[in-house]
Amino acid sequence: MTYQPLSLEHLDGLVDVHYRITTGNNLLPLMGRSAVRAFYRWWAGNPKVVAVVACCGETVVGHALGPLSPANYRQELNRAIWKDLMIGAIRVSFVHPIRLARLVTARKAMLRSMMRSVLRLHPGPVPPSLEAEVAYSTLLSIGVDPSFQGKSVARDLLAKFVAEMGRRGAKELRLTVRATNTRAIAFYNQTGWTFFDEANGGLRFRRVIGDAGDSNALNRTETGICN
Ligand SMILES: CC(C)(COP(=O)(O)OP(=O)(O)OC[C@H]1O[C@@H](n2cnc3c(N)ncnc32)[C@H](O)[C@@H]1OP(=O)(O)O)[C@@H](O)C(=O)NCCC(=O)NCCS
Repeated sequence: MTYQPLSLEHLDGLVDVHYRITTGNNLLPLMGRSAVRAFYRWWAGNPKVVAVVACCGETVVGHALGPLSPANYRQELNRAIWKDLMIGAIRVSFVHPIRLARLVTARKAMLRSMMRSVLRLHPGPVPPSLEAEVAYSTLLSIGVDPSFQGKSVARDLLAKFVAEMGRRGAKELRLTVRATNTRAIAFYNQTGWTFFDEANGGLRFRRVIGDAGDSNALNRTETGICN
């Protein structure tokens, strides 16, 4: 198993993994492969984020990604991918109109925020000087192909992600996970995260960077789990 920074050559494999790990109750995959690809493309080579993939040979089997600062990334991401989402939404409205309507209703707040980003109705970007005052970074997403789960791939991905965040100056990480995602919650409880808040059906966890667990995890043996 190798762990590498996300690059354009990983996108197709990453989209495949995305479809294998997300449930039908998720808006992005419903919009089609181009929308999911556009989402991951934004992270590849972006200097303001950390994005790591796990590969078995040429095959992508997992990812961990998040922005160094939560201040502006949503607006930038939304502006980069909204056209792909719109094209996907038009296509889906013919094929699965009821499913689309249900998901749009469920994700109203997120879509409203996205429209505000696209129309640039958000207050202007946070200037870099203030961005530094947002004292935490974010783990936005982590996932492992089902056929590789339970083999410590996520644990190792997280270790690489945390180490790279630390190298880039991050001091604390935060994440939000759906309260119904018991498997992920078990994973976070086992990998150094502490629950600190609840918001909109999600649980918020945080983790200080630089404790002994990070370097231990980096030294783990990574061979022999590709088969
Ligand atoms: C959550 C997820 C990333 C874990 O990936 P994984 O590679 O299977 O996890 P690991 O093998 O590295 O597990 C590390 C530890 O987490 C805990 N853990 C992982 N999966 C677990 C499960 N199904 N039940 C209980 N504990 C679990 C265990 O303590 C495990 O350590 P152990 O094997 O020494 O007991 C994976 O299940 C996944 O991709 N889920 C779908 C996507 C998702 O929900 N992502 C998180 C929200 S963004």
